[in-house]
Amino acid sequence: MLTVELIAKKQRGEELTREEIATVIRDFTEGAVPDYQMAALLMAIYFQGLSDDEGRTFLRAMVGSGIRLTLSSVNGIKVDKHSTGGVGDKTSLIVAPVVAAAGVPVPMISGRALGHTGGTLDKLESIPGFHVNLEEDEFENVLRETGCAFGAQTEAIVPADRKLYALRDVTATVSIPPLIAASILSKKIAEGADALVMDVKVGSGGFLRSEEEARQLAEMIVRWSAAEGIKTVVFGTDMDQPLGRAAGNAPEVLECIQILRTGKGEARLLSVCRWLGAAMLLLGEKANTFGEAVKLFDATLSSGAGLVKLSEIAAAQGSNAHTVEHFEQHWKPAHRHEIRAGRNGFVQSIAAREVGYALVDLGAGRRKATDRVDHSAGVWFEKQVGDEVKEGELVATAHWSGNDSSQAGLMRLQRAIRIADAAPVAAPLFKFFCDEGGVRMTDDILSGT
Ligand code: URA
Repeated sequence: MLTVELIAKKQRGEELTREEIATVIRDFTEGAVPDYQMAALLMAIYFQGLSDDEGRTFLRAMVGSGIRLTLSSVNGIKVDKHSTGGVGDKTSLIVAPVVAAAGVPVPMISGRALGHTGGTLDKLESIPGFHVNLEEDEFENVLRETGCAFGAQTEAIVPADRKLYALRDVTATVSIPPLIAASILSKKIAEGADALVMDVKVGSGGFLRSEEEARQLAEMIVRWSAAEGIKTVVFGTDMDQPLGRAAGNAPEVLECIQILRTGKGEARLLSVCRWLGAAMLLLGEKANTFGEAVKLFDATLSSGAGLVKLSEIAAAQGSNAHTVEHFEQHWKPAHRHEIRAGRNGFVQSIAAREVGYALVDLGAGRRKATDRVDHSAGVWFEKQVGDEVKEGELVATAHWSGNDSSQAGLMRLQRAIRIADAAPVAAPLFKFFCDEGGVRMTDDILSGT
């Protein structure tokens, strides 16, 4: 069947066969299906959806587009962590080195900025010299030698996701739950992970349209990964406001390094890191209960071992410990703009999606696939949702190094922050938990520790 017929078939809402999906993914990866046809197919899928069977066929085809690492030279249960994407969502840079420092190997093939959200690879590349495009043997060597490796999709490892991911980024076709599951799990299967902790983001700064859709995605990820031999647990966490104080590549790296250095930081961010990290330690069999795992995570974080580990990983991936430890000196944005409170009151909301798009305007993300990212661009929030502010007080500072649309970005950022008379009612940070037992409230997991 011609690609144009396939697009029309999906437009009519019909199910694609396994062979059709396998062929279109293979031909797209090899360059025989052009981006404009794949973009049209993605848009048809966006509106018509994919069945479970179609989604799993996408997953298999994407894994099959490249090689699968066995990581046979790495001892221990290999546990990864991944997020569906958010604004200021930097937890990987904290939990991966801390969990690795506690003895669990962490193979992590991540993504770049997607839509209005940030990406771990772009964040890491704001560390001068940090190289993420590792060959298969380099990835395994770094993992064996340091306990953690941060890699990217390459020509050899999930090349189909590499191309599809970049195309979905700029065509507003990220929010397709089965394709999110296929994209994430293709990387985890290819990298050779034994277990996975997922953070499914719920709220305006994420990609899921409702909490119900987020729960369905969580169940889908648990089910599909179990079928591939990967034990997965999922936390559903709030993404209605940016996570932590910083959003944007270099500022987020700086926030992570400060937390790894001091063990202290913004409460919501620390809380998400603690639970994701504890779940990784539990899956890696370094603890018997969530309570024990949380204690181990906290002790490792406050010992500073996570920062030592991040420095080791950076050195193994082309950068060095001095650069990580003195990262402040490497974040040198050319411009800064202060956002001050226009009135007395409380920070009512900080619209995460608006902040994400403001960051794209400032240059932190891509408008088209070929754009270069300004790693220095970002925002640092002095105030969080719920904080009291006085007129004229500093709420946030935007940073960037030169971009035609910076004015539009600054206006968006200003509009994203709403100040009102009364303090808002705090929304729960943890929405749900999901494992092979199904979706449930997080209280029974998070209490008693
Ligand atoms: N993260 C991924 O790796 N893929 C997606 O589609 C969304 C988030």
